[in-house]
Amino acid sequence: MIKKKLNILFVASEVVPFAKTGGLADVSGALPKALGELGHNIIVVMPRYYQVDKAKLTHLEGALGVPMGPIGELWAGIYTAPLPNSNVPVYFIDYEEFFGRKELYNDDNEPFKDNDNRFIFLSKAALQLCKKLNFVPDVIHANDWHTASLPLLTQTRFWHDFGNVPTVLTVHNLQHQGNFYKGAMDVMESGWDHFDPTSFESLDSINMLKGGIAYADAVTTVSKRYAQEIQTPEFGFGLERHIQAHSGKLFGILNGVDYDEWNPSIDTKIAQTFDVDDMQGKATCKRAMQEYFGLEINENIPLIGFVGRFAEQKGIGLISGILDGLMEQNIQIIMLGAGEKWAERYFSDAAARHGGKFGVYVGYSDALAHQIEAGCDFFLMPSLFEPCGLNQIYSLRYGTLPIVRATGGLDDTIENFDENHEHGNGFKFDLPTHEALYWTIHWAVSIYNSDKKAFKAMQKHAMQMHFGWDDAAKSYEDVYRHTIANRRKH
Ligand code: ADP
Ligand code: GLC
Repeated sequence: MIKKKLNILFVASEVVPFAKTGGLADVSGALPKALGELGHNIIVVMPRYYQVDKAKLTHLEGALGVPMGPIGELWAGIYTAPLPNSNVPVYFIDYEEFFGRKELYNDDNEPFKDNDNRFIFLSKAALQLCKKLNFVPDVIHANDWHTASLPLLTQTRFWHDFGNVPTVLTVHNLQHQGNFYKGAMDVMESGWDHFDPTSFESLDSINMLKGGIAYADAVTTVSKRYAQEIQTPEFGFGLERHIQAHSGKLFGILNGVDYDEWNPSIDTKIAQTFDVDDMQGKATCKRAMQEYFGLEINENIPLIGFVGRFAEQKGIGLISGILDGLMEQNIQIIMLGAGEKWAERYFSDAAARHGGKFGVYVGYSDALAHQIEAGCDFFLMPSLFEPCGLNQIYSLRYGTLPIVRATGGLDDTIENFDENHEHGNGFKFDLPTHEALYWTIHWAVSIYNSDKKAFKAMQKHAMQMHFGWDDAAKSYEDVYRHTIANRRKH
């Protein structure tokens, strides 16, 4: 039987290449493309942030009215552009007062006070847009707390048009739940019945993600291991019981990689391309990084890289705690990241202390992220928790062996080196302690120094692994169809 292609509304707060602060944007740029390639009719909706250049977008006629309860009706402009290398349209909701700001969510690390209104507005605008475009979705896919009001909106304020449409909510990171003053219930216009401890209420405030989990037809997370972990107090950020209660509709689907973007054989951002059969270019990339960060130029010194937000999640406290000790070994470390001020300061000071062996770039640079992936021997990702993690998967393709903590998606993607069988694609440790990280780095480096054959075999194995979006997109399709079939039963 030929299955009907689906109409999918996909809503996210950030989408590559238009706006990005983290992996959510990579996923929102790649998954819709993969779903489009499966033949589905998918549209993506995101804000038209200040940084998204209007001149490169097509303006749609007319304005979109968005009802915002006590705030009244607000009128948004609509722009559109396709996702690169695809026919998937992205629609941008343009409303200067909410989205015409320098940053996406914060001002100097302080979340904007009206983030509740901004993203309820985005969610409602996405539904209004479907009506304007005569796009009748078979399923609505929301992402993280920003768009977690969608499942409830379809069941209440927008029941008339979307009451039969199932919703899927993907939790990319449970730490960020969207906690706000309860008055936002009025802005959702969904009735105060839904403000109770089994749905949106949490200690007399609104918890967006909690409400989204309660009302979505299916909840997904970005790795199987994380789907298990978030049902425990260690990783549940207070929602573990709530998630346990909804575990019957919880699925873990590992993210993929966009190999058009992260692939050393065609990467235009790196010093020289390379692939598994010709690794010459990787040596050039390593040298380029040693030069860029002012390190000793020596191909035999193991070079370890880090790319990521400077947030506790990423294990930056573990790294900072052992950095001086590590620097006594014959290794080099380079870091790219921004975020927590103490970390920006700490690593900048460390670069001054350990010039020639340690370098840091504080800020955001996509090109440098690619260059670090390409030029390093090892990639460091000692996260305290990691829903999926993308950089360790990118690293594999660049032959840069990940050193990771065995948690979430890191555990699902990295196979520990097995000395007896010369097997594995990286180095893992369990406990989030300084000692465990220190000795795992020590172990990885000693294999590099003393067993080149094993190191090269691992590199080769890592580079040949495939984490494409094709499989993940099929798993999402299964979840969509499951929710549609379930709705029909009831
Ligand atoms: P998270 O979403 O938790 O930040 P992921 O590993 O899923 O973690 O994705 C992070 C993404 O953001 C990767 O594509 C990574 O390369 C990118 N990234 C993070 N920090 C920076 C930075 N300072 N400069 C450039 N890219 C960055
Ligand atoms: C989150 C997670 C990260 C994941 C990304 C994309 O920000 O922290 O682990 O890879 O979302 O799903």
